[in-house]
Amino acid sequence: MLNDLSHVLISEEELRRKVNALGAQLAEEYQGKNPTMVCILKGAVVFFADLIRAMPIELSMDFMAVSSYGNGTRSTGEVEIRKDLSHSVDGRHVVIVEDIIDSGRTLSYIAKVLASRGAASVKICTLLDKPDRRDPNVNIHVDYSCFVIPDEFVVGYGLDYAEKYRNMPMIGVLKSEIYENT
Ligand code: IMP
Ligand code: MG
Repeated sequence: MLNDLSHVLISEEELRRKVNALGAQLAEEYQGKNPTMVCILKGAVVFFADLIRAMPIELSMDFMAVSSYGNGTRSTGEVEIRKDLSHSVDGRHVVIVEDIIDSGRTLSYIAKVLASRGAASVKICTLLDKPDRRDPNVNIHVDYSCFVIPDEFVVGYGLDYAEKYRNMPMIGVLKSEIYENT
């Protein structure tokens, strides 16, 4: 798998440091609020598992799957909920945990949906943010992000290309020939 990377962008050590720091910050802000941490499947799973273990407070977790990219590297613009939460968020403090915010379409839609279900608050927490790619028509406020990255296609630590590379412990830039040849 490492041979498919042009270079490593974020090492395991850097990931661990930033994710632990964000977990500590969230724990402080959500102490006593019993937040619902919502993991957006599947890309956020690895980040989510590390983040919640860095939060030594009472919290609940829930999972949601949405369609975004299919197998390509560009967003289709359509958002569909494929698997919904298993508990109500009415009156709850919700933290949406996502792997990467690119155009911002997926997350702005999900945040609106959860707010409309009566959540007491909805915040967005992302591992990676690619602000250069934001859709200018999308109104999204990113409350917490670990790393701002350039407009390059990255994989690893949960992020995939065609379902591959999610289990790599670091984040790397995929060689362009990998997706140009398929
Ligand atoms: P958005 O709606 O355009 O913000 O799409 C966000 C989703 O696109 C993420 O949850 C990822 O699944 C996917 N995505 C965007 N950029 C990348 C990338 O560089 N590598 C892997 N997946 C990506
Ligand atoms: Mg994906």
